[in-house]
Amino acid sequence: ARIVVLVSGSGTNLQAILDASADPAYGARVVAVGADRDGIEGLARAERAGVPTFVARLSDHTSRPYWDRALTDKVAAFEPDLVVLAGFMKLVGEKFLARFGGMTVNTHPALSPSFPGMHGPRDALEYGVKVTGATLFVVDAGVDTGAIVAQSAVPVEDDDTVETLHERIKVAERAMLVESVGRMAREGFTVDGRRVRLGG
Ligand code: GRF
Repeated sequence: ARIVVLVSGSGTNLQAILDASADPAYGARVVAVGADRDGIEGLARAERAGVPTFVARLSDHTSRPYWDRALTDKVAAFEPDLVVLAGFMKLVGEKFLARFGGMTVNTHPALSPSFPGMHGPRDALEYGVKVTGATLFVVDAGVDTGAIVAQSAVPVEDDDTVETLHERIKVAERAMLVESVGRMAREGFTVDGRRVRLGG
């Protein structure tokens, strides 16, 4: 299966998929990595792995819908079977969803429906939850609201900072992402309302 991964930052989730896909039994390979900005470690990781990259910068387009179309076209050029948003910090638009909705998953560093948005680990820490984690979901038009594929829980420690908590979440998140993306790529999946079923 052909996977396109979209990133905006350090790309440790991307790296976990790149490492897993080195084993042919994984059944999926990253055919391209896209970003919404230049100069990020996520793109460097792709280049080191010999994976084609592209950038779709919002500032290069006169408006968000034009950016949405440009992003959609760039992803479509690689004919993915699955698109993975791994730390991608933009909301995809209606053109992207029309073309790739139902075959795009996103990972979020909180246990949905708690703490959606840009600051999951910070919001969990401030709320004082004792357990948080990561959620993999099928992207829909909302912010971190799609049908849940998998979740992984981690404890919040009394002396946690946002950084130590997010690092602990990311360890669980990477493992969950690699496991689920591999299964979705090998077995296929269907989305029925709020239910995601693995298997063709
Ligand atoms: C991940 O925890 C992702 O869920 C969140 O930001 C982090 C990105 O990490 N949106 P990386 O770029 O994969 O290292």
